[in-house]
Parts: sequence; C-alpha cells; structure tokens
Amino acid sequence: MSLIILAIESSCDDSSMAILRDDQVLANLTFDQKIHQKYGGVVPEWASRQHFEAMLPLYREVCQQAGISAQELNAIAVTQGPGLMGSLVVGLGFAKGLCLGLGIPLLRVNHLEAHVMSLMIDEPRPVFPFLCLTVSGGHTMLVLVRGIGDMELLGTTIDDAAGEAFDKIGKMLGLPFPGGPEIDRLAAQGQAVFKFPVSKAGSHNFSFSGLKTSVLYFLKKKTAEDPDFITKNLNDLCASAQYTIIEMLTRPLMVLAEEMNISQIGIAGGVSANRGLRNRMAELSRTQEWQVFFPALQYCTDNAAMIGITAFHKFKDNLVSGLDVAALARYPLTQAVRGSGSGA
Ligand code: KG4
Ligand code: ZN
Repeated sequence: MSLIILAIESSCDDSSMAILRDDQVLANLTFDQKIHQKYGGVVPEWASRQHFEAMLPLYREVCQQAGISAQELNAIAVTQGPGLMGSLVVGLGFAKGLCLGLGIPLLRVNHLEAHVMSLMIDEPRPVFPFLCLTVSGGHTMLVLVRGIGDMELLGTTIDDAAGEAFDKIGKMLGLPFPGGPEIDRLAAQGQAVFKFPVSKAGSHNFSFSGLKTSVLYFLKKKTAEDPDFITKNLNDLCASAQYTIIEMLTRPLMVLAEEMNISQIGIAGGVSANRGLRNRMAELSRTQEWQVFFPALQYCTDNAAMIGITAFHKFKDNLVSGLDVAALARYPLTQAVRGSGSGA
C-alpha cells in the first residue's frame, strides 16, 4: 500500500507544501514572501504572519494539484527546526491541527537533514556513502551521509553562511534581497577581475566574514575615488565575489573527499542553485573523477518536497505520532545533522 504524505515547510521566509505518494512528488508549491525585499533581509515577525496567511490557501491548492483529498492523507510531515521560532510554530501548529482533525500521525523533520535528502528526490541519486556540501542562507556544512538518517557533520562555517555572504555582499552592491540569485545572474556577464582573499578556517571548515569585510573596504576605497565605481563594474564585482565564495566552498570539499576517498558528492541548499558553483563542480567532476549530484532547481531553496522525502524514507516502516511540544526544543547542530533531533 502506498503512503501519502502532506509535507509542510515554514522555517524561514518560504511557505511551502508538498504531497508525496511514497517517494514520488505529486505536487510541491512554494510561496516566496516578497515582503522581506523591502527590508533587505528576513523580518521574523512578517515571516510568521505571512506563513499564517499562506497555510490554508497552500493546503487547498496543493491537495487540488495533487488530486488528493484530506481523507487520503496517511501522515503529515513538518519542519521541526532549525529555523525562526515564530515561523516554525505556524507550520507546526497547522500540521498538528490537521493531524488531530484527521487522526493521522505527525512526522517531525530536521530542516538540514531534509536539504541533504533533497538529493534523493529525483534520479540520478548519489550512492551511500557520499559527501554533501549543504549551502544555504543559514548554514554551510560538510556532511558525511552513510545512509538514511545516518549523517555526520565533518565541517561547518565558523562565522557566516555562504548564502549570507552572497546576501550581504549583494546589499553592499545595492542589489535586491536576497542577493544570491542576483549576484549569480550578473556574474554570468562579468569576469572575476578583482581579487579578494580566499580565507581558510582549517582544512574542513569555512569562514566568510573576512570576505565580507574585504569587499566592504574595497568598495569604500574605490567609491571614494569614483562614486560610480559599483555601477560601472557591477558584473565584474559580482563575478569576483562569487568566484571567491566558490573557491572557499570547494577547497575543504576537495580535502575531505581525498582524505575519505569518496567520489560521490552532493551539493544541496539554496546556494546549490548557483550557476557558477554548478559549473565549477562540473569541472571538478572531471579533474577529481567525482560523480556530482545537485537537486532540481525547485528543490534547492527551501521547499516542502524535501521534508516529505525525508519523512518517507525515515518513517516508512515505523509511523509514530508525536504531537508534543518538545518539537520546538533547541538542539545542538551536530545532533541535528546526525538526525537524532528529528525523530518523531
Ligand atoms: O536553503 P535556503 O532557501 O534557505 C535557508 O535554509 O537558508 O537558502 C537561501 C539562500 C539565500 O542566502 C540565497 O541568497 C541563496 O540561498 N541563493 C543563492 C542562489 N539562489 C538562492 N545563492 C547564490 N546563487 C543562487 N542562484
Ligand atoms: Zn533551508
């Protein structure tokens, strides 16, 4: 018998719902909260209010698109964390209400584990064990994935996340929020002619705050000489910053892959949509003899399909209901990545 799961993601500023039949995504809808553009960053209060407004219409629409009625749902999967508390509460509250109303179990999913599991949605899929570089607005992590629910954090950022670096540099360049996709688009028309230092944080970790500072001082100096410097050099500035971020992301990955003799490499999270990173990984797949896997673009940034696929693989044999408040307990990042914080 197949398992039909409604998945809900509301950890930050994307309200998303998906319906899966086993590991097949029947529908995945994401409402991107544009309101944050006005403020140049995510405003938590707005995020939770917008999630609240989006839940019911998203639920109706995703059921309609999937051709599934409420009575056919077997379980509800929801993001447990990490994320913004006020945003998580909205998704969790909606999920729990539905579970109680329909008498079906709640499956709590760790958001970071789900980004890794986004690589399991479509074929071709990586073979275990593989290394996953998870790069989002909040996290930059190197994870060894031994199997479903068996993940180990091997490297992380010691300061900012890579997506955060993209977004902050985007802001310095006067680009709309989030800066990542804008820098990606403009970098494609520029050359990496400006050299920024490639900072290191040991061989397995990452550090992006130095880049942010050097771009800031570089721009201050150059705009003092020529107020139009940014406008005249926007594409090259984007290409240069992006090149540096990609170098900083791929170096620890190369060290770890060699040390562990692993050639199956996955890239996940919002920044995995970046074309420069995808091109660089294609080069590395040739020179390092890697097999590289990316999620489809709609599964790179936050989405509910990745929550659903994680729930399906982790809970298919053991559906458990867990409507308790411990769902919002804080847990250390390492535990979260190992998956121990996400069991229902
Ligand atoms: O995974 P995600 O949707 O949310 C978090 O869990 O943080 O990632 C959002 C991040 C943002 O920082 C955004 O700028 C970045 O992913 N991002 C990109 C691209 N698309 C999204 N960064 C670079 N290039 C892109 N194409
Ligand atoms: Zn995310």
